[in-house]
Amino acid sequence: MGLHIPAEFVDKYNQPGPRYTSYPTVPAWTEPFGETEYREALADLAARPADELAIYLHLPFCAKHCFYCGCNALVSKEKGAVDRYLDLVEKEIGMVTDLIGTGRRVVQLHWGGGTPNYLNEAQTDRALNLFRTAFDLAPTAEVSLEIDPRIATPEQVAFLHEAGFNRISLGVQDFEVKVQEAIGRRQSRDKTLRVYQGCRDAGFEGVNIDLVYGLPGQTQESFSATLGEIIGLSPDRVACFSYAHVPWVRPEQNKVDTSIMLEGYDKFQLFQLTVDKFTHANYTWIGIDHFAKHEDELSVALRNKALHRNFMGYATKPAPHMLAFGMSGIGDVCDRFAQNDAELPGWTDAVAAGRLPVVKGHVLSEDDKLRRLTILNLMCNLELPWALTEQAYGKPVNELLADSLQGLPPLVEDGLAEVDDQGLRITAKGRYFVRNVAMIMDAYLGKGKGKPIFSRTV
Ligand SMILES: C[S@@+](CC[C@H](N)C(=O)[O-])C[C@H]1O[C@@H](n2cnc3c(N)ncnc32)[C@H](O)[C@@H]1O
Ligand code: SF4
Repeated sequence: MGLHIPAEFVDKYNQPGPRYTSYPTVPAWTEPFGETEYREALADLAARPADELAIYLHLPFCAKHCFYCGCNALVSKEKGAVDRYLDLVEKEIGMVTDLIGTGRRVVQLHWGGGTPNYLNEAQTDRALNLFRTAFDLAPTAEVSLEIDPRIATPEQVAFLHEAGFNRISLGVQDFEVKVQEAIGRRQSRDKTLRVYQGCRDAGFEGVNIDLVYGLPGQTQESFSATLGEIIGLSPDRVACFSYAHVPWVRPEQNKVDTSIMLEGYDKFQLFQLTVDKFTHANYTWIGIDHFAKHEDELSVALRNKALHRNFMGYATKPAPHMLAFGMSGIGDVCDRFAQNDAELPGWTDAVAAGRLPVVKGHVLSEDDKLRRLTILNLMCNLELPWALTEQAYGKPVNELLADSLQGLPPLVEDGLAEVDDQGLRITAKGRYFVRNVAMIMDAYLGKGKGKPIFSRTV
């Protein structure tokens, strides 16, 4: 194994912490925010017609619930549930375009879930056309979706490509049968390989595979075998997420046998193994948990310091605003975050009654914007040049955030970051603890009460 990092060191930094797909993170959104505030954000967006957009659509339906799942997913046996959902998405899009106008330029469209390929062909075409009619989807737009290979076929992925998707993400998690049993997700290797090959044959520009480390039943040996097989497939990108065990948010996770789950240092070693294997196989380690082929756009963006991070994860096509549709979707419009009702009945009732289904959100203050700039820069580019804020704020970061940066010396002493008069850089060791470094700039951490809602950083 590459870098030796002692167990006590890992334990010291293994704290609950955000993944910073946004700043401030959702638990900090404590002020009332609802339809009125979102309408104001959309009115501001209407006044900036040239700004490009990203769009997220949440499709919650799944064939069966996996125990380990941390996503907002639901299993519905009700006939017509998907069609009814799409009727409401259509209505929701209509409410938004009534306020911002139709034909706005979209550079990124992502369908997440749940399981977007739960939709049949007619439903998929319908949903895509809702966006094509209401927006101007750029010819170069990244149009992506997440699929569950268990319910996919090579024909379905060929159809998805033909329909207009150019990037696809396959949920694999782990090939080991014992692990699959422990997470309530039997997934035949053959089927996954056939669907993967189908994606290649269909000509997708990018094929991504999702893995999770720290799942029950995983061992260094078994995960090493899964990683070897994935590398053999040669996907363009891999996301290897740390298993977030948050049964207080996702009660289904109570079915996970935690006694066979590696934690702390043992879990950390699973990730070190992942890093070693992918970097030796010529993948670039992107941000905290992604790997991409050197020639992939994500790697190029990292080299050019042009990587971005938003609610969908790491991105290469920056759009200043993101609209979200469907239950639980989180948007980012004119310096306001807005989240839709996360429960189907709440979202349904609001949209059916002609109300924007936003139940939670946050208006970013000037301090939030400053900290967001620095935190996201660190999460993407693994450095914080002091000059980053000069243009927008007329002062360097180390003057503007001098208070927060008082938390830096112990991290520098521990070898997580280096500092000089140009700025802060994450070290090779610090790569594993970027979130811990970012946390010193977070003005909200530690202010909440009750159970920590974040998963741990390791
Ligand atoms: C919406 S799912 C992917 C699509 C499809 N539903 C499937 O399962 O194949 C998104 C991804 O989130 C990751 N994920 C789900 N639950 C997680 C958890 N508790 N901790 C970490 N990652 C998780 C998995 O890698 C999963 O593939
Ligand atoms: S992991 Fe995917 S298929 Fe399983 S419950 Fe979650 S969203 Fe659904």
